[in-house]
Amino acid sequence: MKSFRKLLWDKNSLCVSLTKFYSTEKKVVTTKPRQPVDPRRIFKVYRFGGILSKEKPKLINYDLDVSKCGRMVLDALIKIKDMDPTLVFRRSCREGICGSCAVNLQGTNCLACITPIPPDKVITIHPIPHMYVIRDLVVDMTHFFDAYNSIRPYLVRLNKGPLGKYQYAQSINDNAKLVGLYECVLCSCCSTACPSYWWNGRRFMGPATLLHAYRWIIDSRDEDTEQRLHELRDDFKAFRCHTILNCTLACPKGLHPGLAIAKLKRLISGLDKKPLSEINAMIYSEPAAKC
Ligand code: SF4
Ligand code: SF4
Ligand code: FES
Repeated sequence: MKSFRKLLWDKNSLCVSLTKFYSTEKKVVTTKPRQPVDPRRIFKVYRFGGILSKEKPKLINYDLDVSKCGRMVLDALIKIKDMDPTLVFRRSCREGICGSCAVNLQGTNCLACITPIPPDKVITIHPIPHMYVIRDLVVDMTHFFDAYNSIRPYLVRLNKGPLGKYQYAQSINDNAKLVGLYECVLCSCCSTACPSYWWNGRRFMGPATLLHAYRWIIDSRDEDTEQRLHELRDDFKAFRCHTILNCTLACPKGLHPGLAIAKLKRLISGLDKKPLSEINAMIYSEPAAKC
């Protein structure tokens, strides 16, 4: 009996719900009125006049109405520069491609041009950490690019022909191995977020350079694998990475330098071998050039 009553009740409630569901009456949706967000923000921006300046570095406050500029941090910086033309920062593409606008925003490295202005009332912008500051938000990238250049970041073919004469072919599968590597824009957000790079920056190459080292080693068209791996066989160059993965968290392009370094370490230590190329790289070049 009880269960029969329950069934009736269930049926009734189902009917009511179905009637409600199919009812053509307009529902009055009551939503809370949106609280207007205060667009005024205080930007605390790191200012330093350079090593020849007698003044110590300081944070300067800029009050900015962010409804009057674009929605990215770079737009706010450009607006601040309109107010104070002495502010110096790097930028070029405004599209997250040139990698030049890296800054430390609220303690996290980012590319200013693709990072929305945070909702916080007070927003702090520093240069990327553990780099020599040239002026304001501009840091000295010489050491970073010296390390990058040292890995020979270009294709090396043993059979050298005239430059630009041949087209080097690659299968779709071999090309897929470069996905997640070639997109790196060398912004250095990862390297400057890496504790090992802070502590051993002179000898540890840092995640960005190591990601590129792996990118060229794994490229099926490159023929200098042994030499490249030999050059990285060192206690510091790659093995100072302790897989803390700050680099991966910091990458504004969503890449995974930590994973690339882990794979690179396996190749360096001989645990893995570079897979053979699926096709002959010279397949589409002139017959005389085939090797
Ligand atoms: S995973 Fe390696 S490279 Fe990345 S932050 Fe940690 S120590 Fe640095
Ligand atoms: S891996 Fe990411 S964070 Fe590191 S340099 Fe490349 S784009 Fe920048
Ligand atoms: S301006 Fe080029 S990456 Fe930001």
